[in-house]
Amino acid sequence: MITVDNVSLQFGKRVLFDDVNITFSGNNCYGIIGANGAGKSTFLRILSGEKEPNTGHVSIEPGKRMAVLKQDHFKHDNDQVLHTVMMGHDKLWTIMQEKDAIYAKEDFSDEDGIKASQLEEEFAEMDGWNAEPEAATLLSELGIPADLHYATMSELDGPQKIRVLLAQALFGDPDILVLDEPTNDLDLKSITWLEDFLLDFKNTVIVVSHDRHFLDTVCTHIADIDFSKINIYTGNYTFWYESSQLALKQRSSANKKAEDKRKELQAFIDRFSANASKSRQATARKKMLEKIKVDEIKPSSRKYPAIIFTPEREAGKQILSVSKLSKTSSEGELLFKDVSFEVNKDDKIAIISNNSLATKALMDILSDEASADSGTVDFGQTITHTYLPNPNDHYFHDQPENLIDWLRNFSEEKDEFPWFFG
Ligand SMILES: Nc1ncnc2c1ncn2[C@@H]1O[C@H](COP(=O)(O)OP(=O)(O)OP(=O)(O)O)[C@@H](O)[C@H]1O
Ligand SMILES: [Mg+2]
Repeated sequence: MITVDNVSLQFGKRVLFDDVNITFSGNNCYGIIGANGAGKSTFLRILSGEKEPNTGHVSIEPGKRMAVLKQDHFKHDNDQVLHTVMMGHDKLWTIMQEKDAIYAKEDFSDEDGIKASQLEEEFAEMDGWNAEPEAATLLSELGIPADLHYATMSELDGPQKIRVLLAQALFGDPDILVLDEPTNDLDLKSITWLEDFLLDFKNTVIVVSHDRHFLDTVCTHIADIDFSKINIYTGNYTFWYESSQLALKQRSSANKKAEDKRKELQAFIDRFSANASKSRQATARKKMLEKIKVDEIKPSSRKYPAIIFTPEREAGKQILSVSKLSKTSSEGELLFKDVSFEVNKDDKIAIISNNSLATKALMDILSDEASADSGTVDFGQTITHTYLPNPNDHYFHDQPENLIDWLRNFSEEKDEFPWFFG
């Protein structure tokens, strides 16, 4: 169990948290949600003790261990991959180091012997003998092949490092697991694996994510950060979203009724308060009016931006027809062969592969950025198509203009709509 008591924090004038009191417990998985900049990451840093709040404190049930997904991708650059994972369990790792230091001594005293046997006992109690195989299993399940387990972290690429840090957080069955956006930069397979891991996990999870599907799959509770407060709701993300929308609707319709009534009474008072015969009635209504409360609806501080594609003209029947497409990479690796498919109106298609070169090559061919070795790509007459490649840094290499001017380059519409950018 982890308890947050009277926590407040502000940066300069900006109040992030105002007297927050909540408890996270059991084998629940709490999804922390809130607008960008609401303070989700900061809250996790307060939970882990990395950031001191201005007031209040966080307490963890004695004897319980918290593990946190590290954000610094370079911190372990000089460490071995397998060691990095085991460092996730601080205490176990320290004992291993102490043990090794004693055994490495040339003049091994009696005292050393006693110390070593104490350490061995603690090590065994913590299931230390299984630490290495457990770390290796986590790594392999996250797609880090065995030959990289003994490499140093600096030899790994970015996405691999992220998966090792994730394994580090998950290692050794922590009592409280704190994860800030763990699905960022993970491939689909690793995300699915993480979802299964968290579903099987028996302890408390506190996770920040913008990935609704992930939150829906793993969360038992939602903790919503808004207006410097945190409210916990039972249920997954969709349940929270739908109930919060409903509550807002109900509140605004109740308010509308109250507001209508208030207007009616006010009109009556205005009309008759000067009229002696009606003035008693007007006074009574005045009293009624004072009783009607029009709740001030606090609209959520969130914005739900959307990219809405409005086609320049209605698409015809034929969208895209791909026939017998084949491609071999410049290194001679066959990426795909005889790929044929039809794209119909309103289709939304995900292209997935274990080989990111293959998906990239297919997308490049569909967007005329590369040519196929054989086969055809036929877009319908009415179709215009665009492409957001990955990587896409080349779009941003020379940036003489501001963002709006830069966007204007891609639009027929040269006027600036305030509602569009607001
Ligand atoms: N050390 C700091 N000093 C001053 N301001 C800070 C500091 N750390 C964070 N902030 C500010 O506090 C606010 C909350 O930041 P935080 O990173 O916690 O938000 P978040 O909810 O995690 O956002 P996102 O969804 O973008 O990850 C932001 O406005 C940020 O600029
Ligand atoms: Mg954040």
